[in-house]
Amino acid sequence: MIKKGIILSGGMGTRMSPLTKAVNKQLLPIYDKPLIFYPLSILMLAKIKDILIIVNKGQLNQYKKLLPDGKNLGMRINYLEQDKPRGLPDAFKIGKNFIKKDNVAMILGDNFFYGQSLSRMLLECVKLKNGAKIVLHKVVNPEKFGIATVKNKKILSLKEKPKVSKSNLAVTGLYFFDNKVIKYVKKLKPSYRNELEIVDLLNEYKKNNKLTAEFIGRGGAWLDTGSIEDFYKTSNFVSAIENQQGFKIACIEEIALNNNWINKKRIKDSIKFYGNCEYSTYLKKIIS
Ligand code: G1P
Repeated sequence: MIKKGIILSGGMGTRMSPLTKAVNKQLLPIYDKPLIFYPLSILMLAKIKDILIIVNKGQLNQYKKLLPDGKNLGMRINYLEQDKPRGLPDAFKIGKNFIKKDNVAMILGDNFFYGQSLSRMLLECVKLKNGAKIVLHKVVNPEKFGIATVKNKKILSLKEKPKVSKSNLAVTGLYFFDNKVIKYVKKLKPSYRNELEIVDLLNEYKKNNKLTAEFIGRGGAWLDTGSIEDFYKTSNFVSAIENQQGFKIACIEEIALNNNWINKKRIKDSIKFYGNCEYSTYLKKIIS
């Protein structure tokens, strides 16, 4: 069982400047809560309690105000800073002492997942003992993502942002690795854009026939919130579902309660922490 997870929450968010000049992108709102709640909720649905959030140098205090140490969620939230972006695999260099001898999941701080069968899929993914697992989803714009071809859940090929592609299966920003990731990441060389590439890391596993996939499927949604347009699109999606059905997506306290990681008393503390707001009203409803 994978019990540790990393949220890569750095990046300069250049494409969203000036919004991201003073505030980290993952702290900006997707509808009614900060973006970081969504990837965090995904790791929580995978029953991962021990989390490392990698943030930009100088932005740690912003995060700690929102998610201090995880105690309020019955979890452990650790932080490490990244002095500059060096590509996604850099997370495993930064997080080496957090990972230790364990297997680990990683999710990108700006990835949004939603769907009925998601929890089941996540619980399947964390069973990984050897190798690596990625999560695929169909897209209409393969030139924007890492793209895979696959047969019976085995990855046959992987390419980062191909100009032309027969496949439209995008590699989402959610990955599961065995402990060899620490060894493999040391071998990687920076690409033409002077960054370590996640596709190169995944190809190390593929070479050894150890790379498999799960699918989100038609009933699920995956949205990458890289641009301002994506922020509004995703916000509209969350708003439509929440207001139609009366429950919240990525209410981290609710998930912690459902996981039996906290009791109602903890939720009361969170209500105090957030103050008089619509989110607190929802929390009150959960425990009433
Ligand atoms: C990164 C990865 C890409 C993946 C995407 C998912 O791209 O390099 O393989 O499909 O995340 O969000 P980026 O968003 O950094 O361009």
